[in-house]
Amino acid sequence: MKTMKIEGNYCRLEIGSILEGGFQAYLKTFENQKIVILVDENTHDYCLEYLITSFPELERAEIMLLPCGEENKVMEVCFQVWQAFTEYHVERKDLVINLGGGVVTDMGGFIASIFKRGLTFVHVPTSLLGMVDAAIGGKNGIDLDGYKNQLGTITQPACVYIDSGFLATLPGEEIFNGYAEMLKHALIGDVALWEEIRHIQSEEELIQQEVIVKAIRVKTNIIEQDPLEGGLRKKLNFGHTVGHALESYFFQSIPISHGHAVALGMIAESYISMKRNLLTMESYK
Ligand SMILES: NC(=O)c1ccc[n+]([C@@H]2O[C@H](COP(=O)([O-])OP(=O)(O)OC[C@H]3O[C@@H](n4cnc5c(N)ncnc54)[C@H](O)[C@@H]3O)[C@@H](O)[C@H]2O)c1
Repeated sequence: MKTMKIEGNYCRLEIGSILEGGFQAYLKTFENQKIVILVDENTHDYCLEYLITSFPELERAEIMLLPCGEENKVMEVCFQVWQAFTEYHVERKDLVINLGGGVVTDMGGFIASIFKRGLTFVHVPTSLLGMVDAAIGGKNGIDLDGYKNQLGTITQPACVYIDSGFLATLPGEEIFNGYAEMLKHALIGDVALWEEIRHIQSEEELIQQEVIVKAIRVKTNIIEQDPLEGGLRKKLNFGHTVGHALESYFFQSIPISHGHAVALGMIAESYISMKRNLLTMESYK
């Protein structure tokens, strides 16, 4: 797998095997600093060992375990991590590595960006949704009282290391969640990608590095032009107004996943656009 870099003012991404890129050299710059790795229960079990055994620099890292799932993307968990940071004497120049899906990168980015007015952090996304969307662009945050992403900051990670090898253990329904955000990127910014992935037959085809890169490029192109969501970046919210409402509504009863909610949201929002004559019936279909 060839490692490629996408480097701009607002995002530094490395895509490819994490073993072959600049991760190790970057870790060496923290030789005299503490390193904390935030994981959830699944990435602790499925992804952490690979990372630590591959990079001896991480053998001394402090591992902090977050509970899984959207219901835990909340302030109470952040408080516990900040307290743990304090006990572990984490300083401003130390490094936080967020190893996980969108919940870990959203919450880990928030935790790091607030503590001591901002620690250095990197994301190592392990879900498809995290790789094509959540870990990119610097938006991080947590939910409040069942409302999505009510608290947060826009703070860029120092780098995002995207290695699709982590997807080997990701359950099928989570691949579907990532697919929803890939379809969103295709619909808002890459017609050719839409044609390529709309009829995709298998998970294997979807998680090809070339396909992931195309989906990522739609997002990075937008963020480069509008990092703070003055206008253009709002395109990335396609499906999310209705999607977040659905997520919040079902939160207390039968929670639905973010990708599922966004997929339904895109259909609903397209329908509204069509009804308002902003989208032709043909485009809607
Ligand atoms: N910041 C942004 O720009 C942005 C964009 C889109 C979505 N998001 C947020 O991302 C979150 C959704 O992300 P998600 O779908 O990755 O959810 P998630 O982080 O909950 O991950 C989904 C599940 O997969 C597990 N998992 C992750 N990687 C794994 C692996 N390699 N092997 C086995 N299991 C693994 C997780 O433990 C979890 O159970 C939502 O909170 C959403 O709001 C943020």
